[in-house]
Amino acid sequence: MIRDILIHPDPRLKKPCEPIAAVTAEILTLASDMLETMYEAPGIGLAAPQVGVMKRLIVMDCIKDGPPEPMALLNPQVTWASEDLASYEEGCLSIPDQYAEIKRPSSVKVTWMDLTGALQERIFEGLWATCVQHEIDHLDGKLFIDYLGPLKRQMITRKMEKLKRELARSGSN
Ligand code: NI
Repeated sequence: MIRDILIHPDPRLKKPCEPIAAVTAEILTLASDMLETMYEAPGIGLAAPQVGVMKRLIVMDCIKDGPPEPMALLNPQVTWASEDLASYEEGCLSIPDQYAEIKRPSSVKVTWMDLTGALQERIFEGLWATCVQHEIDHLDGKLFIDYLGPLKRQMITRKMEKLKRELARSGSN
């Protein structure tokens, strides 16, 4: 089921999320809905607070060409980050049509629990590294625009407030 994606500014996008204790039917449905919502958007990553669920769950698929590689990460944690930084033009499904170059570690080691309840660990590089850090930030109430200067951030926030007013008026959100 496709869920509604919250648009910034929204208090739920600014709050830290709760760890997930166990993989329940509700969590499996949430992960499946989030992947469907992400692919439909379309996007390469989505975090649970973006659909209004304050739990530490993210989904990603950064494959551009080739067979899809859907991933669902529960309680993801960065345990190591490279000193090397990489810059990517980032966007966010909660901040539609706004993009900015953001510098982050170019590779990170991440541990998480998968949908079978097993612990996983992987080193992410390239676009995957940027995406996983962007999504984990969401679980801590942080958006990519928080890396920008206050003027740029305010400009984007005002555009989003205007967009939300327009959406409210057209009755679609
Ligand atoms: Ni995002």
